[in-house]
Amino acid sequence: MTVLVVYESVYGNTHRIAEAIGRGLAEAGVPAQVRSTAEAERHPPAAGDVLVVGAPTHGHGLSRENSREQAVRDASRHDLEVDDAAAGPGVREWLAALGAEGGRATAFDTRVKGPAMLTGRASQKIARALEEHHYELVAQPESFLVTMGNDLVPGEEDRARRWGRDLAAAL
Ligand SMILES: Cc1cc2nc3c(=O)[nH]c(=O)nc-3n(C[C@H](O)[C@H](O)[C@H](O)COP(=O)(O)O)c2cc1C
Repeated sequence: MTVLVVYESVYGNTHRIAEAIGRGLAEAGVPAQVRSTAEAERHPPAAGDVLVVGAPTHGHGLSRENSREQAVRDASRHDLEVDDAAAGPGVREWLAALGAEGGRATAFDTRVKGPAMLTGRASQKIARALEEHHYELVAQPESFLVTMGNDLVPGEEDRARRWGRDLAAAL
């Protein structure tokens, strides 16, 4: 069984969470490959791979090309570094190109700390798209939180690691 953790990230938070989930899976004896959407485009999932797909929440849901471009343009103004993954496609586009393979999957996102009703959750959109591609959800979509200053809330990487461990147990 191969687990692919596929992520989109502009400022690196979702990338860090993806790596932490990968560490948690590995600690529980389930080695995972962590890939940006660009890498996952070059090495698409094979039949039977378990997908764990994550993205930042933009505009209450999944990013679009213009929201990613805006985020890159805004980086220097907010003194934020742009992640290498920012050059790749968004999860929305990656999922649209994904074959209807089916299999097992789940989703995660990063979003601002606050009631999900107000912030939105990209992971819910990802989960719905995965189901449309005939993937069965093996865990509820999860959000990992950032501050208004765009830093991961302390403890969120650890929580992502634990989530990865729990996910391994569910597989
Ligand atoms: C253009 C844009 C739109 C955003 N919209 C939302 C939003 O609707 N809800 C939310 O909770 N966070 C929103 N955010 C915050 C991001 O979800 C958050 O900073 C995320 O951790 C960024 O992930 P990244 O570092 O992997 O790029 C937005 C950020 C940007 C740049």
